[in-house]
Amino acid sequence: MKIGFFDSGLGGLTLLKAVRDLLPQYDYIYFGDTINLPYGNKSEDEIYQLAFHGIQKLFAMDAELVIIACNTVSAESLRRLQDTIFNHTHPERRVLGVIIPTVEAVLETEARNVLLIGTKRTIESNKYEYELKKMTNTIRLHAHATPYLVPLIEEHKSDEAINILRKDIEEKVGYVEALILGCTHYTLLKDALRVIYPEIRIFSQDEIIPEKLKNYLSRHSEIESILTRNKSLTILLSKESERYNEIKKVFFGI
Ligand code: DGL
Repeated sequence: MKIGFFDSGLGGLTLLKAVRDLLPQYDYIYFGDTINLPYGNKSEDEIYQLAFHGIQKLFAMDAELVIIACNTVSAESLRRLQDTIFNHTHPERRVLGVIIPTVEAVLETEARNVLLIGTKRTIESNKYEYELKKMTNTIRLHAHATPYLVPLIEEHKSDEAINILRKDIEEKVGYVEALILGCTHYTLLKDALRVIYPEIRIFSQDEIIPEKLKNYLSRHSEIESILTRNKSLTILLSKESERYNEIKKVFFGI
């Protein structure tokens, strides 16, 4: 059985790469729903339906657990997906999101004034705030939607993305200690952002999820023990493109 990853596009590939670097022994399968990207402006029901079908596809291809490497899906539909899957389709499989591990990572630091950027849906869901409030009252979260970033990142226009983002968050970065990149696509901007804002701590999920997953597997031997260990990697996209072929080559040498 494999570890599955689901995302709307290339953001999740950064997570897959980071997880595979830390845990190379397992078999991995990735499904990127590129034909329906971006998810960030869709309705909650649309996001749920698309994610549900994507996850079922991964289950049909032997994913034992699926990491929803997409904040938008994690924010809007994780609980509903987990309930349906547990109660109706695959009670023995697991679906994990990326928001709770990210909130935990923030809590492990001293940051108290934190800026969160994400898709429109992620920000409007207030999910980060909700999870944070369950754990602490000491952190002030300033949430800001940056819906223009995903299309630019997908089109390989990271410089343009950074320029627009800088102007957009200019006032806010003056009074925060940390920035959460609340969309897996934004991990591709982390290096540039660290150069521009060296005094701000940047939380990037490719640096958070691998350790959290390792820890999860160490606590769940019923899952870990049935994962196969052939180091295989399958990447499925609902729409192929040259850009993705390049990324697959650079990230995974395939
Ligand atoms: N990368 C995804 C996220 O983390 C989704 C981006 C999109 O499809 O809008 O939110």
